[in-house]
Amino acid sequence: MEELIKDIDILPAEDAQACEYKVTKEENTGRSKKLYIESYGCQMNFSDSEIVASIMKEHGFDTTSSFEKADVIFLNTCSIRDKAEQTVRKRLQQFNQVKINRPDLTIGVLGCMAERLKEKLLEEEQLVDVVVGPDAYRDLPHLVMAAEDGQKGVNTFLSREETYADISPVRLNSNGVSAFISIMRGCDNMCSFCVVPFTRGRERSRDPFSIVREAEALVAQGYKEVTLLGQNVDSYKWSPEENNKARLNKLDAPQTEIVNFANLLEMVAQVSPLLRVRFSTSHPKDITDEVLYTMKRYDNICKYIHLPVQSGNSRILELMNRTYDREWYLERVAKIREILGEECGISSDMIAGFCSETESEHLDTLSMMDMVEYDFSYMFYYSERPGTLAAKKYADDIPLETKKRRLQEIIEKQNQLSLKRNKMDIGKSQEILIEGTSKRSPDFLKGRNTANKVVIVPKGNLGIGQYVTVKITDCSSATLFGEVVG
Ligand code: SAH
Ligand code: SF4
Ligand code: F3S
Repeated sequence: MEELIKDIDILPAEDAQACEYKVTKEENTGRSKKLYIESYGCQMNFSDSEIVASIMKEHGFDTTSSFEKADVIFLNTCSIRDKAEQTVRKRLQQFNQVKINRPDLTIGVLGCMAERLKEKLLEEEQLVDVVVGPDAYRDLPHLVMAAEDGQKGVNTFLSREETYADISPVRLNSNGVSAFISIMRGCDNMCSFCVVPFTRGRERSRDPFSIVREAEALVAQGYKEVTLLGQNVDSYKWSPEENNKARLNKLDAPQTEIVNFANLLEMVAQVSPLLRVRFSTSHPKDITDEVLYTMKRYDNICKYIHLPVQSGNSRILELMNRTYDREWYLERVAKIREILGEECGISSDMIAGFCSETESEHLDTLSMMDMVEYDFSYMFYYSERPGTLAAKKYADDIPLETKKRRLQEIIEKQNQLSLKRNKMDIGKSQEILIEGTSKRSPDFLKGRNTANKVVIVPKGNLGIGQYVTVKITDCSSATLFGEVVG
């Protein structure tokens, strides 16, 4: 895996998710053509690129890590904030320069920006050949072939059923230790600031048996960790009717009762005690005690919950259409602490300067942070997205300077809290899974503890993919440092 800008040793700065991207790794299986994919945005997008690579592999493409070698370049894009789209626009200009010298090159825009802008993208970016939304990736080989014959194409059909359950992803994002498994697609929540329901369509859950099979295959290949992905994993639901549909589609699904997220988590945890299970993202309105108790029952389900609050003020939460208030959120956190204890990592997403947010409402976000003591947060200032409920109903009336200042206060608060939480780990022994070499020095390895914190340890005789017990000796606000004790 080649990570260009992303560095998990460093805490996310302003709009970290927008400037983070990953490129495909080199794969030589003797196929005649080369595909280069650059992926922006969230883990769902990174996971989708693995599905895209798999579909293209079936049609004669190996992946490459250098776009100079590629016959086809795909940008898998994100629309979550304006800045994310601007980054992609700039990158397209660079690729267009390449295409001037190589007119046979096919350039495709995939993902959320493709879905949001559709045909308009072909008009605005003259050298783009194909525009394909997140539910239409099976159509890519055909569209690329047409583009090779000089015919541009768009497919932004959003499906109510597509989950790509039968496709084995090419593990582009993986270090051979941990892998993503998509368990659902789309989102029905309609948070007023958010473009995702428009770019990813209706929520649908993937057949649980295909999820378990994917986890089993990963274990057989030596993987040690899976992250179950969805915009709102707690609303995962697989019903017998859908099951019957899957049986008709020959997905080899046994008859079953309704499978909810807690059930699914348990099914995946039972695949192997040596397989760590993580998941993201949990929605505060939906996370149940049943999920928390399931986490508690299985040692191999990591004690870490990404529970984005967005704002600490109930009026703003209502305008955001998050469907919970401050009290509800705090009660959920109290329940997490009661069932899973202080050790459970909790992280969040925060939006500064949402429409009409007053100074005292902003202070509520800071006090919420103090009360929860997040280990980690992704922090943004509000960026109005065309077509969303907020864009239609509310004025984007907080001056940019104010948004940035409030964001800075949130970031500073988080840095203090991260340091405080990390210091609590000093002196403790923890099991970590070694994931790779530290970016700062080849003599050190990095792993993560159950709470999703990065731990740096001296290399010694340790290998990637190994579980070790370490004693935490020191920390910064972003990282723990440890020595191996077992
Ligand atoms: N499904 C997840 C969020 C996915 S988007 C959830 O509900 O928590 C990731 C994060 O981007 C969001 O949590 C939010 O903090 C941020 N975000 C989304 N839309 C945004 C916007 N218009 N402006 C700024 N940040 C936004
Ligand atoms: Fe967006 Fe809300 Fe869905 Fe998350 S839950 S993807 S913030 S609409
Ligand atoms: Fe971005 Fe789409 Fe993910 S908008 S955050 S890539 S779902």
